[in-house]
Amino acid sequence: MNLLAGKRILLGVTGGIAAYKSAELIRRLQDQGADVHVVMTAAATEFITPLTLQGLSGHPVHLDLLDTETESVMGHIELARWADLILIAPASANFIARLSQGHGSDLLSTICLAAQCQIAVAPAMNQGMWANAATQENVRSLMTQGTAIFGPDEGLQACGEIGEGRLLDVAGIVDLTIATFPNGKLRGCKVVITAGPTREAIDPVRYISNHSSGKQGYALAEAAIEAGAEVILISGPTNLAPPNRANVIPVTSAQEMYEASMQEATGADIFIGVAAVADFRPTEVSRQKIKKDKSGSRVTITLEENPDIIASVAALGDGPFTVGFAAETSHVIDYARAKLAKKNLDMVIANNVSNQEIGFNSDENETTMIWGNQEQTLPIASKRNIATKIVGTIAEALPESHAHD
Ligand code: C5P
Repeated sequence: MNLLAGKRILLGVTGGIAAYKSAELIRRLQDQGADVHVVMTAAATEFITPLTLQGLSGHPVHLDLLDTETESVMGHIELARWADLILIAPASANFIARLSQGHGSDLLSTICLAAQCQIAVAPAMNQGMWANAATQENVRSLMTQGTAIFGPDEGLQACGEIGEGRLLDVAGIVDLTIATFPNGKLRGCKVVITAGPTREAIDPVRYISNHSSGKQGYALAEAAIEAGAEVILISGPTNLAPPNRANVIPVTSAQEMYEASMQEATGADIFIGVAAVADFRPTEVSRQKIKKDKSGSRVTITLEENPDIIASVAALGDGPFTVGFAAETSHVIDYARAKLAKKNLDMVIANNVSNQEIGFNSDENETTMIWGNQEQTLPIASKRNIATKIVGTIAEALPESHAHD
């Protein structure tokens, strides 16, 4: 993925034990296509050497406001103008205090003062320092100035204490960095997505389910967040980590998914039903584990229909733009068109699940989007890539009443 392609990130590293994590952060930002320049405070150089960060970033590290050598490569005002984002990770309590007060006492704070771009701060400090009223006041002040605050996390700290104040993990910082550059296609939109399988209980230990992994639904949630939307992800049981900034509503059965969907769909702009919802559930759920009394015994489970979630959402008066999936093994386009009409959807996304390479549990997919009198096939690609394209097409197809930009 190159979600930061062409983006110029000025990474500010301040003095704290978490400074060593900035080395990994540079690499992961570069993996996404970012060009990273590093500015270190004097205290940061006590924890990690400028040489390390110079080697990783591929650029001279900027240390001193009055250093003629690095200033001649790119001066502090030029650095402030160069950056698309200033990311300070780790940000110490001391630096947060200086930044919130508008100090220009060192190179990094001076660059921040001069910058017009977004500034993001990932705090890292002892839990007591983080909880301190002065730090909290400084963080609030930064927020009102428009600075983004990434984290902190909680857990075991280098000092041996447990609490809030750990630097957010590198992957989390990268995700939030990506999210500061939304492509804006769905800015202001509320998007509800169902994902994963449902489980229909037979007795306290058994259930009926299916092979859905949730990957396509989670990828769509990420893509919608990247497009600037507020995302509600109603998820059946999966092994996936939910995307940062998604509001996740965990559910188990189709009935629970139906109730959460009907609640969230009211007032939403877009509803995407990606979940593989069980069509049927046992009419009665045994309260005790069903026993095998003698060999060759038979058990009959009677099934009744679950509500069709997406059809119910599509039937809402003044409801969201509704997008369904059609997983088929034959006559894929014809069956998908029939589903579009029968469930009264605005768009249907057809995929052929007869091929093991694509569909349910794989990382790749091949789909055809059908809406109005239009049809577009997306050739085989990663589910994340497909998701970005689907979100782009939905944004273009969205009626004025649901578009906010
Ligand atoms: O009818 P079928 O299950 O093939 O339709 C698939 C589409 O309908 C998917 O978008 C799926 O999420 C949705 N669906 C639903 N509720 C059901 C069954 C399917 O929302 N009970």
